[in-house]
Amino acid sequence: MSNSEKSDFFYPNEDVIAQANVSEYDKMYEYSVNDREGFWEEQAENLSWYKKWDSVLDESDAPHYKWFDGGEINIVHNAIDRHIVGPNRNKMAIIWESENGQVRNYSYNGLNREVCQFANVLKSMGVSKGDIVTIYMPQIPELVFAMLACAKIGAIHSVVYGGFSKEALSSRIDDATSRILITADGGWRRGKKVDLKSIADEAMKRTPSIEVCICVKNNELDIEMEPARDFWLHDLKSLPIASSQCETEHTDAEDPLFILYTSGTTGKPKGMLHTHGGYAVYTSTTHRMAFDIKPQDRWWCAADPGWITGHSYIVYGPLINGATIMLYEGAPNYPYPNRWWQIVEKYGINILYTSPTAIRGLMRFGDRWPKKHDLSSLRLLGSVGEPINPEAWRWYHHVIGQDKCPIIDTWWQTETGGFMICPLPITPLKPGSATKPFFGNEIGLIDEEGNETPLNEEGKLIIKNPWPGMARTIFKDKERYADLYWLKQNNNKWHYLAGDSAKIDEDGYIWVIGRMDEVLKVSGYRLGTSEVESALVSHPKVSEAAAVGLPHELKGNAIHTFVILKEGVLPDPDLEIELKAHVGAEMGKIAIPELIEFVTVLPKTRSGKIMRRVLKARALGQDEGDLSTLEE
Ligand code: WT7
Repeated sequence: MSNSEKSDFFYPNEDVIAQANVSEYDKMYEYSVNDREGFWEEQAENLSWYKKWDSVLDESDAPHYKWFDGGEINIVHNAIDRHIVGPNRNKMAIIWESENGQVRNYSYNGLNREVCQFANVLKSMGVSKGDIVTIYMPQIPELVFAMLACAKIGAIHSVVYGGFSKEALSSRIDDATSRILITADGGWRRGKKVDLKSIADEAMKRTPSIEVCICVKNNELDIEMEPARDFWLHDLKSLPIASSQCETEHTDAEDPLFILYTSGTTGKPKGMLHTHGGYAVYTSTTHRMAFDIKPQDRWWCAADPGWITGHSYIVYGPLINGATIMLYEGAPNYPYPNRWWQIVEKYGINILYTSPTAIRGLMRFGDRWPKKHDLSSLRLLGSVGEPINPEAWRWYHHVIGQDKCPIIDTWWQTETGGFMICPLPITPLKPGSATKPFFGNEIGLIDEEGNETPLNEEGKLIIKNPWPGMARTIFKDKERYADLYWLKQNNNKWHYLAGDSAKIDEDGYIWVIGRMDEVLKVSGYRLGTSEVESALVSHPKVSEAAAVGLPHELKGNAIHTFVILKEGVLPDPDLEIELKAHVGAEMGKIAIPELIEFVTVLPKTRSGKIMRRVLKARALGQDEGDLSTLEE
């Protein structure tokens, strides 16, 4: 792409600008970084607190910051309770549709009933404030109810994405030492029933801590229930104890709300911990301002609630804002590639938020599928998960958004809790750039020595300030959190290191390039090379394995692996198939390598670290670079 094309702005339409919740960026941004606490205090005032905070930001134990410390709040009080005493009581909260055409709707009042009942069921099973409940479910309303029920009683949820498999599930249960697992008999994917309960059974065999498994009947799969451990939710809900009234627990602003595991550079996934107060303020503010949510809007974030995108922008942010949420269980192109466009038309969706992978996947089928449908209800479109390539951006803007919907490209992470870099509906756009920092955030780029990089040069992305939605720690590992993410500056300030590289252009627009570490983004999902490697090595015929990410047209990254077999085992194509299936069964489908290459040695440094850079270069047919640290 030429530079002149790159600097071409896309300007939002007059009517989008006229109705924007935030009508001006520059002055407000300046204010938000000059008086960060003042800005966030104002935003916090929009929520309902049992008791106001003593301090907005407490930096005394930096980089372990506290927000709204001394305040009492419960995120569910804001997401549900305050709506059902006002005009939103009978407003639609959740519209759910499944791939096979089932539809269920819940008003805010109906949602409250479900969440109260679920909360009472949890209480009857001995769950109380501070307990960690693991949730492993398909994309059904009960997943949302389960999360909210935990939060309502002050328990901490740990949602494991329903596409993950037994090893991923059991290691997360183990780390959290959960006593309770909430799951379902199964879900739907491409006309097939996915048997979740038997994966959960396998995971429970590997971990000793689960005492109670609550199972939602979703698709009539014939599953095994272990007496005295496994209970059907509908049975528990019919007990007198499961009344549809339940007090919301008063939690402190800094009390944990959830743990969400995410892949890091080495070893096992890290449990990022988020809290009730700051997270509620951050997700609702970012959602209201960047996606310009209006009372009558129908909001569709087409992610899985099991990832941070779903936590922040299906469940918490939108419900706090009193929005109507679309939840869809199924693949975007099943049974036909118009499935999503059908939903947009049928429900009159106003804002659609999805990933570049999904956009590229649907673009591949051509314009005729979206053109079958009336998409005129759409006002804004969003993108998240990886950089969006300008070609996909233009298609999304032109064919789906009919040239009238700004594309809100949001850069953020599991760790950040909410958007860090994103446009507002009023921001002139450049395809492929997430544009400017969200209010309160100062973004910088640094080189290896920690010096700021010049304009248009690549550097490591840093955030120079704390923000309310930030993860407070890695579960059980406060020190590692500080070490991994925060850099102390000479002036005693701390900078957050994101793990991405980026460039900033002459207009101050930020162009995120991608991860710099051993983290892969496969179809927008985050995976660690080390997790794929451990899954391979857990196969009896594998001695060593290395995984790298290679560019892939649809998926962004494809996993390419190199495997050394055990003494006496010979490579053959059947073994490649067997190993792929093994990774799928251990980790989940998204971790299945695109390619397994059998090798006899792996390039390592003298200290024994695999040089993935060399493997990557070799696989791409590129120059292998500096090999001076390579072992003989
Ligand atoms: C990583 C975080 C945040 C919700 C989903 C992903 C990449 C995310 C963008 C974007 C370029 C992006 C980064 C980041 N990423 N959004 N708009 N443009 N890259 O959360 O699984 O924690 O992954 O996703 O590399 O570090 P996550």
